[in-house]
Amino acid sequence: MDGNADLKSERKRIIEILGRAPEILTLPSVVNDVLDVVSRKTSSSLELTKIIESDPALTTRILAVANSAYYGFVKKISTISHAVVVLGFQEIQNIALSMSVVQLFDRKGSEFSEDLWRHSFAVGVATKMIAQYLTRKIDGKYFVSGLLHDVGKIFLSQYMPESFTRLLSVMDEKGNNYTYHALEETIFGITHAEVGEILLCSWMFPSDIVNAVSFHHTPSKATVDQIFPACIHLADLLCTIKGITPLKDHHFAAIDRDVIPLIQEVKQNFCTEDMTALLSQLDIEIERQGSFVSAFKKK
Ligand SMILES: [Fe+2]
Ligand SMILES: [Fe+2]
Repeated sequence: MDGNADLKSERKRIIEILGRAPEILTLPSVVNDVLDVVSRKTSSSLELTKIIESDPALTTRILAVANSAYYGFVKKISTISHAVVVLGFQEIQNIALSMSVVQLFDRKGSEFSEDLWRHSFAVGVATKMIAQYLTRKIDGKYFVSGLLHDVGKIFLSQYMPESFTRLLSVMDEKGNNYTYHALEETIFGITHAEVGEILLCSWMFPSDIVNAVSFHHTPSKATVDQIFPACIHLADLLCTIKGITPLKDHHFAAIDRDVIPLIQEVKQNFCTEDMTALLSQLDIEIERQGSFVSAFKKK
């Protein structure tokens, strides 16, 4: 078999595993119940409240998130019914879904996967910060998309560990000659952005989040809302500049050259000074969002 055929069969194998994702990467049944209630137009707040309250762990985590500095509510939110009213159905669904995904992959593992989660949370915080900087409406989908932008990478590292270790060692050997992205295609025949898209679709994430994750390395190729994936792209870059990355800096693919013109469509004259301002704001944001982030990981 030649190299190309090998690559095609590796890609096929990965897609087959992903096809079984709903069975092997099962989200808790309470999350499916949340999805079900949110998707029905006739559902009441009471129905959603009852479902969440049936799971004490989820209840605790949602209350911790609702009371974190991320939302900045002045009054303490002490009941789920109150959280449902102030956060809304969609936000509660996004929180429940993304918390479950984090827990699904949150195994104590390699240094790489711990660094990748640290990177993912930081990109979540940075994506929200950039969206706000570009005066987009404050919405939890920005944090969630940043948090899950590299979920495909997490999947590949945990479900294809041998190939993934090979990828990391080739990068270490060859240094600047290879970028992570080029190697990923050479070894797996699929990118982590594609893997992320398939996973999030199978877990029924809203289409705007799927789209943003799918195009986080190529925002200008998105067919809808290119600014959203551009926010993640920029967040990824800021975190890498800060060294919050599982990969060594020199392996990072440079900024997509279409991204700055895209950003300038919503913020004219966006330039290096804006990047510098965002970089210094990021430290404060990461510090401020600590309680929000730890609520996602609480067992
Ligand atoms: Fe990525
Ligand atoms: Fe990333």
